[in-house]
Order: sequence, then C-alpha cells, then structure tokens
Amino acid sequence: MSPGITLRPFLPGDYPEARALWEATPGVGLSAADEHAPILAFLARNPGLSLVALHDGRIVGTILVGHDGRRGFIHHLATGADHRRTGIARALVDAAIAGLRGEGIGKCHLMVFEMNREGRAFWHSIGATFRDDLVLYSIPVE
Ligand SMILES: CC(C)(COP(=O)(O)OP(=O)(O)OC[C@H]1O[C@@H](n2cnc3c(N)ncnc32)[C@H](O)[C@@H]1OP(=O)(O)O)[C@@H](O)C(=O)NCCC(=O)NCCS
Repeated sequence: MSPGITLRPFLPGDYPEARALWEATPGVGLSAADEHAPILAFLARNPGLSLVALHDGRIVGTILVGHDGRRGFIHHLATGADHRRTGIARALVDAAIAGLRGEGIGKCHLMVFEMNREGRAFWHSIGATFRDDLVLYSIPVE
C-alpha cells in the first residue's frame, strides 16, 4: 500500500463520507439497508471489524465486515477512483480477514455483481474462490 495511506476502524461519523464514496462507485449496490441507521446498526453489531482507508484525512477506501457467529460477510469494498491499483483494497481485505480470524470465524463470503469485471478480477487476484456451485436467493421480510 502507498505511503500516506492508513487504515482504521469505520466509525459512525464516517457514514456521510463513506456514503459519498459508495454513490460515486459503480459496482457498489445501495439499498434501504445502506441508509444511516442500518449502517450504524451493522457497525454496532460488528464492533471494530469494518474499516476505512484514509489519505490526507479523507476516506479513500471502505470495507464493511461482519459475521453471524458462523460465517463472515464482506460488503462495500470500494477504493476511490484516484487511488486504485495501489494496494488499498488488498490491505482492507487482509485486515478484515485478520479481524474475522480474531473472532474465530473460519470463512467469509461476499457478493459481486456478475457484470462487475474489475471487482471479480480483484477477488480472483487475491485468491478468493469463485463458487459456481451456488446461486443467490433473497426473501423480503418487511
Ligand atoms: C475492486 C476494487 C475494490 C479494487 O480496489 P484497488 O484498491 O484498486 O485494488 P488493489 O490495488 O488492492 O488491487 C489488488 C490486485 O487486484 C487486481 N485488480 C484490482 N483492480 C483490478 C482491475 N480493475 N482489473 C484487473 N485486476 C485488478 C490486481 O491483481 C491488483 O494487483 P496489481 O495492481 O498489483 O496488479 C476497486 O476497483 C473498486 O472500488 N471497484 C468498484 C467497487 C467494486 O467493484 N468493489 C468490489 C465488489 S464487492
């Protein structure tokens, strides 16, 4: 990772800046679950696991990380367009996995839009396993 980039836990006050990054980042899917209150609830349920990358005090990368006691989940991995290919996402994922390991979690999952070629290239490059034996189903519960 480039000098001048630091990682730290994602704090509740980071939401507006992180949200702006997500909105500017094709490949990050946003829904009602990404409004302020649900994201703060996610952070509170998974203390210290989600991270931001900072450059000159500005958020240039994010990763949301949680688990359900059994498996970990990664959401909203994003690096600002001006900071890509400098190792930020790799560093965020390494730190995320270390955090999950520290909580006794043995595997984590993530979802990528099928058409997201750069996202898929990233996950492939860091050794994530592509699961062609699974499909995703969703059920609304509201
Ligand atoms: C995918 C994404 C997070 C990668 O962030 P990044 O900080 O640029 O990634 P890194 O610099 O850590 O890249 C690590 C390696 O991943 C691979 N990689 C990253 N981006 C790539 C791309 N666009 N095409 C091909 N390979 C890529 C490379 O092997 C790279 O190593 P290298 O630069 O030494 O060749 C970033 O492009 C992004 O925010 N995309 C939009 C959001 C998204 O798709 N998120 C992932 C879906 S959950």
